[in-house]
Amino acid sequence: MTKTKRILSRLTGRGKTDAREPGFPEISGQPYLETLEALVAARSAEWYLEIGSRTGTSLSRIPCNFIAIDPEFQLQDARFKSARQMHFFQMTSDDFFETDFLERNAIRPDVAFIDGMHHFEYALRDFANCEKAMAPDGFILLHDVCPTSFAMASRELTELEARRPWTGDVWKVVVALKDVRPDLEVHVLDCFKTGLCVVRGLDPANRTLFESWDDIVARYIDTELDEFGAEAYYGRFALEPGDGFAERAFGRVDST
Ligand SMILES: C[S@@+](CC[C@H](N)C(=O)[O-])C[C@H]1O[C@@H](n2cnc3c(N)ncnc32)[C@H](O)[C@@H]1O
Repeated sequence: MTKTKRILSRLTGRGKTDAREPGFPEISGQPYLETLEALVAARSAEWYLEIGSRTGTSLSRIPCNFIAIDPEFQLQDARFKSARQMHFFQMTSDDFFETDFLERNAIRPDVAFIDGMHHFEYALRDFANCEKAMAPDGFILLHDVCPTSFAMASRELTELEARRPWTGDVWKVVVALKDVRPDLEVHVLDCFKTGLCVVRGLDPANRTLFESWDDIVARYIDTELDEFGAEAYYGRFALEPGDGFAERAFGRVDST
């Protein structure tokens, strides 16, 4: 890599590769934060809901009202765009949904971003609770659906504790939705560095996930990615470029 390319890749976050194991694709497309920002703008969202905000990096890209949920905020130099209402809930997402805050305030988020606890059952429950609350034609984004190694996709917290990239087993949410909710439109985007999933065609009245909860969790929870197979997983969908997805999905992108 030339010096210029090295500097560019550091600035854009593109082109950096962590240890990628055979059978895994390279996830080097548009960084997820850029795709997230483009999608929220394209939807002309009025309300955005984020599960897992940590430092506020993703939140600070959001140009509308928002609800941010994290049991341990570590906001750093967070500057918010044109939000007029910002609600911070320092609690787990499960506790948040129990408050019924959204229903009591007649808030129906247009976009939800799930980036909280990276275990399958938590991310799937976040999905189910968000779907129930979303605005018509809203959509849900799930981070970290594209692991590039088996260790990264483990339920063990070893990688997280070693401060290495950890996707956990959020990948199983993609498999579960494809299996049990074929009515949904599930797109998996090549967004650096661990992918972004966009779920459209939501049905807030659909109760499949709630009614079959125990069976669905039992069906997937103990399967590790090395058993399932990286190629089998990536064979379940066509990886789409994140660059331009918002324009392809909505036909236009509002400037923010
Ligand atoms: C990967 S970080 C979020 C990064 C942020 N979305 C971004 O892109 O800048 C994950 C966050 O999820 C939070 N978290 C962990 N368990 C959670 C839960 N049960 N509900 C909500 N947030 C949770 C953690 O405290 C952590 O701050």
